[in-house]
Amino acid sequence: MTQVKDLELRVLVPADAPDLAALEAAVFDNVWDEQRFFTLLGQGSFIAVGAFQGNALCGYITAYSMGGEAEIVNLAVRQDLRRQAVGGTMLNCFLDRCRMIGVGRVVLDVRRGNRPALALYARCGFMQVGLRKKYYADSGEDALILERFL
Ligand SMILES: CC(C)(COP(=O)(O)OP(=O)(O)OC[C@H]1O[C@@H](n2cnc3c(N)ncnc32)[C@H](O)[C@@H]1OP(=O)(O)O)[C@@H](O)C(=O)NCCC(=O)NCCS
Repeated sequence: MTQVKDLELRVLVPADAPDLAALEAAVFDNVWDEQRFFTLLGQGSFIAVGAFQGNALCGYITAYSMGGEAEIVNLAVRQDLRRQAVGGTMLNCFLDRCRMIGVGRVVLDVRRGNRPALALYARCGFMQVGLRKKYYADSGEDALILERFL
């Protein structure tokens, strides 16, 4: 597998809000705007890890943490850099960060048909623990609930 050169991972801060909002808008339909990210990135309960190539944000994971648990909100890698280990590297870095701040369990919802994401989560040790029927309003698709203990 080719790996992206000079990938740097770090926790995102409010100054990253414009790049984060731009990347999210490039990948997803229903997105948060820059102002919302600016506010969230300043809050202790919001965890965001970004992958950078030089100064360019090429992937991110966002999550809420509360009471020793974290819930992943979104995870994305720039289209042209997929299948080059950015997602896996980022997810492992995020899990390390969670451990560091005392999170013991990570959960998330994922579309049943999202094969790349399901394969990535399985590879990083997530297990299916539940199902929400017709959870996504846009497509009526089911959500799988995955969890990973740390
Ligand atoms: C899901 C996503 C983040 C994966 O990022 P990525 O950088 O391509 O992932 P990686 O290259 O680190 O892949 C790690 C492993 O995940 C699995 N995987 C990733 N993409 C895959 C695909 N298209 N098909 C099958 N397996 C895939 C593989 O096991 C892969 O390891 P391998 O390449 O050695 O086989 C990316 O496809 C993406 O941004 N998708 C759109 C946004 C999205 O759906 N997010 C999930 C919301 S829950």
